[in-house]
Amino acid sequence: MASSVIDDVLSVRDGRLYVEDVAATELAARFGTPVYVISETGLRTRIRRFSRAFAERWPEGTVHVLPSLKANFGLALRHILTQEGVGCDTFGLAELQVALDARVPPELISVNGSSKDRSLVERALRAGARITLDSEREVQLVRQVARDLGLQAKVRFRLRPDYSDLEFASDFAPDISVREAAQAYKPGIPTEALLRIGPDAVMAPELDVRGVMVHLGRHSSDLEVWRRMAAGVGALVGELSRAWNGWQPREIDLGGGFPSRRDPTGRGAQHARHDDRVGPVPEIEQYAEALTSALRESLRQSGVPTRDKVLEVEPGRSLYADVGVQLATVRNIKTQSRPVARTWVETDTSEMFLLDTLIEHNRWETVVVERAAAESTLTADIVGISCGFDVIVPDARLPEVHEGDHVAFLSTGAYQDATAANFNAMPRPGTVLVHGSDAEVIRRPETVEDVFRRDVVPPRVAAGARSGAA
Ligand SMILES: Cc1ncc(COP(=O)(O)O)c(C=O)c1O
Repeated sequence: MASSVIDDVLSVRDGRLYVEDVAATELAARFGTPVYVISETGLRTRIRRFSRAFAERWPEGTVHVLPSLKANFGLALRHILTQEGVGCDTFGLAELQVALDARVPPELISVNGSSKDRSLVERALRAGARITLDSEREVQLVRQVARDLGLQAKVRFRLRPDYSDLEFASDFAPDISVREAAQAYKPGIPTEALLRIGPDAVMAPELDVRGVMVHLGRHSSDLEVWRRMAAGVGALVGELSRAWNGWQPREIDLGGGFPSRRDPTGRGAQHARHDDRVGPVPEIEQYAEALTSALRESLRQSGVPTRDKVLEVEPGRSLYADVGVQLATVRNIKTQSRPVARTWVETDTSEMFLLDTLIEHNRWETVVVERAAAESTLTADIVGISCGFDVIVPDARLPEVHEGDHVAFLSTGAYQDATAANFNAMPRPGTVLVHGSDAEVIRRPETVEDVFRRDVVPPRVAAGARSGAA
């Protein structure tokens, strides 16, 4: 059998696409389409590689990888990551609950998010999870709840470094610099407030202030941006340490935002034509090197020892994206020759199930499953079924394609399932986990009944009720 490897998850065997050792056509036939598919081996390989990349480059202390649950909150996937021994970044009560249900050790959970309420703080405190504080108000709230419960809260401050030298274009919008985007982004305690409340907070008996956290976000794949980001964090830690009588963080969490290797982010936007990102982005080891070396150096310059400091990172897309594909079936090929020539490959999925097509202007790499090794001879828009514009990939270069073929959208393992929407009352797709030659459902597809499950029709407005009846 002729075969070629696309990456550690995908290969082409006898001209057909495989996910691990299962033919994508078989997945489509067994589970229906559209369907999200995740490779278990790919997930395990990546999390191990991630942990190793940072641990090897931060010998001065422990490294914790806290995958960001929001990128994919599939319960089975979280259980796999728990087996792999890693922690979790959570946002809000539901994500915290999922992490606890999936037996993430509470001390490896970071409860993040802005405007936390009392119920979330109570749950986190009772569980023993760490709370990443986002505002002066939250510092007071957590102190109050900790006093009420007679517990000590494990907390970190989420920082807002100035990033004054991040004058690089953001991949999302080239007319905004990464610095401007970071300043417009709401999370974190403004430095002026932190300098004021810090000395009291670090001495408060109801708080165990462990350290600091930042998250820049997916603005740039440029290693220099990440070096300067880590340097900015080190400089701010130095400023806090000087202002707070030599206080030092025991934990420094640098968040996520690293691109996935195939990196679809932003490549579908207008400006992407002028984008100078060519080919795959740097390897995770290169991001680990850039971050750890710059952090180490800036802490040293600030007089803050690095020894015994725990380093944490919170990958989302860089962990999950490339271990997932979405499979769809081609329902029709439609062409017109005038007034403008156009070809549409109509599939049974939707931009609503690949929502970063719209939110982050992703451009998805696609493979026609049945002709994965064939040459591209056709330029067509791959479109979906909703009544929106629903152009999933404009001007896609494709091999010959027919009704009943399948299209695989690559790098869809992060955020696509998590953000899928029910527009046009469409039931959302399920998720299948592939492991070697096994495949099983880990999230069943929605039914039409699921879509309307929350609806209530008061008897007085039900069809058949007499209009104007009292
Ligand atoms: C606090 C925090 N950590 C980690 C992440 C993961 O980001 P990414 O998927 O870009 O790695 C996010 C995403 O928004 C986040 O808000």
